[in-house]
Amino acid sequence: MKRERSKPSKLKPAPIQNVFYEVEFVPGLEPFVLEELHEKLVNLEEIYPYVKSGNFQFNFYGDPRQLLKLRSVGSAFVVKLFEVPRPLALLGHQNFSQLLTLIESVLSLHPEGSFKTFRISAAGSDSPVFRRIYKELELSTGLIPSQDGDLFLRVRKPIVRGDGFEVSIRLTPRPLSVRPWRVCDFPGAINSTVAYVMARLSEPSAGDVIVNLGCGSGTILIERLEMLPAKAVVGVDIDPEALACARRNVYAAGLTGKVDLLRGDMRSTGLNSGFADVIYADLPFGHILGSHADNIHLYPDTLKESARIAREGARGIFITSEIRLMRKVIDLCKHLWRQEGEVRLEMDKLRLMIFVLSRL
Ligand SMILES: C[S@@+](CC[C@H](N)C(=O)[O-])C[C@H]1O[C@@H](n2cnc3c(N)ncnc32)[C@H](O)[C@@H]1O
Repeated sequence: MKRERSKPSKLKPAPIQNVFYEVEFVPGLEPFVLEELHEKLVNLEEIYPYVKSGNFQFNFYGDPRQLLKLRSVGSAFVVKLFEVPRPLALLGHQNFSQLLTLIESVLSLHPEGSFKTFRISAAGSDSPVFRRIYKELELSTGLIPSQDGDLFLRVRKPIVRGDGFEVSIRLTPRPLSVRPWRVCDFPGAINSTVAYVMARLSEPSAGDVIVNLGCGSGTILIERLEMLPAKAVVGVDIDPEALACARRNVYAAGLTGKVDLLRGDMRSTGLNSGFADVIYADLPFGHILGSHADNIHLYPDTLKESARIAREGARGIFITSEIRLMRKVIDLCKHLWRQEGEVRLEMDKLRLMIFVLSRL
């Protein structure tokens, strides 16, 4: 537990009880998160009944490193319920010792030095009590308090069960949704966990020929290729800066040579007809990119162009917050595309919809 700057702690680790796990995700992704939890976590036990949008708590007795592989969740936490009447009691000998053991269990998941700073999120986190907790943690761990802390602790009333206070500790220095390959950020880039779900919705196969219209910084293509190889992958965007950004991310992901990034207009790509098995489009919407007035023309033109380059039976996975417009356009194009499903999401108070289509 002790780090370089730390004074020796007199506290001995104690066995910890009442420990479980928690994942946070974009509300609306519940079924995909459940599927991934069952798929990737060996020894997953009870998942507590869902009480809070975008959040699951569950018992899990396997190696917590398995949680670091989750792609549909924003963050994963280990949680301990302390049956104490108020946060001050966390400083009691036994409780504090257990808190340190919990912290050590997170630090030990990563190479030495991965965490340098810490922060606590709690109601009243600037109160004298929390100032003491900060001080004790700094002394015992050697980590430095910082607003952007690598080690992120949350203290709050239990959200599912029990009385007292839950201490949750994020298992990673950065959220899981911040992918290591993202070296170039881009305004309007899609959340990587949502891109992962779009890739899943396309029922990927290693023989897929893929086109991503409006590929921006390449998020969807990279998430798709990290899931499974593909036969051919083309990203199209009108903005050279977006393409330059995508190139850097594709390189960082080790996928250079596996993706063709082309400058072009999604309404008229110049690509061959009938060759694509999957078309992804993160359509321009909202305040950052494009305008509703532009989209009224852009969306139908893009759906028609997508239909032209798609083979019969191809999947079309489109995401937008222009839900009403997209419904109208799908209806207009019902001779080209059949809607197979939809996934409603909520992100930063914005409603989004993933439309799952198949080419007739
Ligand atoms: C919502 S952003 C996509 C973001 C991308 N998924 C990412 O993660 O970075 C929409 C993209 O569509 C592109 N775009 C807008 N109009 C276009 C058009 N007519 N043809 C091709 N691309 C276009 C924008 O340059 C932008 O990169």
